[in-house]
Amino acid sequence: MSETQNADEVIRKLEERNTSDETRFQPVLSRAQEKIQAIVSTQPLISKEDADFRIDRLDLTSTYFQSGAFALWAGILRPQTFPSLMGEQFAGVIKNLRIPKDLRGSGIGKQIVQAWESTLSAHGIKSFLATNIKDEEAIQFWRRQGYGIPEDEGYKKIPYYMMKKND
Ligand SMILES: CC(C)(COP(=O)(O)OP(=O)(O)OC[C@H]1O[C@@H](n2cnc3c(N)ncnc32)[C@H](O)[C@@H]1OP(=O)(O)O)[C@@H](O)C(=O)NCCC(=O)NCCS
Repeated sequence: MSETQNADEVIRKLEERNTSDETRFQPVLSRAQEKIQAIVSTQPLISKEDADFRIDRLDLTSTYFQSGAFALWAGILRPQTFPSLMGEQFAGVIKNLRIPKDLRGSGIGKQIVQAWESTLSAHGIKSFLATNIKDEEAIQFWRRQGYGIPEDEGYKKIPYYMMKKND
């Protein structure tokens, strides 16, 4: 399978949603939105527009995706199509996190991931995925957040996905 097909397959699996979960998780997404917005809205280098979010089904998405700007696309999914997460009912996934270049290394990415995980954990979600990871620097970041690349699956080439389970 080519790398492009691989990427398409990962995204397709993430889109397999059960709409009946929406009502249940809307308050969780709202809470995550509040917490993450509180982090990014105090950053002068993140525009008001970029710091805005919309909740679209089970996704939390920053409104604008502009090159070099802040972006977050996170959601809740049923991970039955990920063999390493068999048996988990729900997982939180960050499909894209991008911190503006001039802000990198100042702890914003870590604060966002922690706000996301703690909000979902409080509602019983203990499994987390990060996907669409395209370079070694981002892999190092995710490793620092406790994520690892599943050894038993085929998605070992770009874009990587990484996984974390909290007990
Ligand atoms: C990856 C990315 C989101 C990290 O965000 P960030 O705000 O710069 O990261 P933080 O400052 O919060 O760093 C948190 C920790 O990760 C470590 N880290 C971050 N980038 C790292 C790197 N390139 N190499 C090694 N460690 C790194 C930090 O040292 C810090 O460690 P600490 O907890 O011991 O202090 C950011 O660099 C980025 O937007 N990259 C481009 C987009 C991308 O590839 N996103 C990933 C797809 S989901």
